[in-house]
Amino acid sequence: MKIFIDTAKLDEIKEVCAWGIVDGVTTNPSLIKKAIQGLGEKTDMEIYIKKILETAGNKRSVSLEVIGLTEEEMFSQAKKLYEKFNSVANNVAIKIPINPCIDIPSSQIYDGLKVTRRLSGEGIPVNSTLVMTPEQALLAAKAGARYISPFAGRIDDYLRNRIGMKFGKGDYFPAHGLRKRGKIIENNGIVSGVDLVEKIVKIFKNYEFKTEIIAASLRNPCQVREVALVGAHIATIPFGVLQEMMLHEKTSQGVKKFSEDVIPEYSKLFE
Ligand code: E4P
Repeated sequence: MKIFIDTAKLDEIKEVCAWGIVDGVTTNPSLIKKAIQGLGEKTDMEIYIKKILETAGNKRSVSLEVIGLTEEEMFSQAKKLYEKFNSVANNVAIKIPINPCIDIPSSQIYDGLKVTRRLSGEGIPVNSTLVMTPEQALLAAKAGARYISPFAGRIDDYLRNRIGMKFGKGDYFPAHGLRKRGKIIENNGIVSGVDLVEKIVKIFKNYEFKTEIIAASLRNPCQVREVALVGAHIATIPFGVLQEMMLHEKTSQGVKKFSEDVIPEYSKLFE
């Protein structure tokens, strides 16, 4: 499984690239806002994004998102982003919302698909984002998306909200769902964020779609483990979760004990 880092913070991208475990970067307007607010000074966005792309380098895909909500807006913004930035390191993918409607019903319902098809036709890789159902994933793959991003964490939030359950970012929602008064909590037959990813993996395998599945909106190491088990091609992971993935009390205890047990003869080997 490939690992992407889900951040627009340059220091985090630099750090994980140095760990040698990261294959790409995903950003969105909220992550950009967070990264820029943290800098506390006026930032030239163009220079900042170029730095992200250079840091990632030409072997790591970097997703940048459009902000328009209609076919023409999204298409021209995608072209602008690609033309402005892809030459930096040849690694830009454009994030297009699978369905850009804020209010439903709306005539824009298929604009995400149309733009995905047009951009893919021009060889511009699309990351179809805000995917919340296997049906949306299927349509995005049919439209030629290079990646699709199912939002596992937000589906868990949604399911918890439906039953009025309080939760924190690190809470673990079991892959095969929860029951309330004997009834499984579900939305459209989906019982957890990981279940959403698993169903998409199955559909894509059935028909040998080339589109890669980026399990997104991951909130804790358990979710990363679960999406790896169900066969997501990629997990995009926040920096804090990547850090948590390294921790175990017994590992630290083991290092402590080994350090205490070093005899002088052994230590001499390293002089
Ligand atoms: C990545 O592509 C998504 O934009 C991101 O994972 C969303 O995460 P969130 O639901 O924690 O905001």
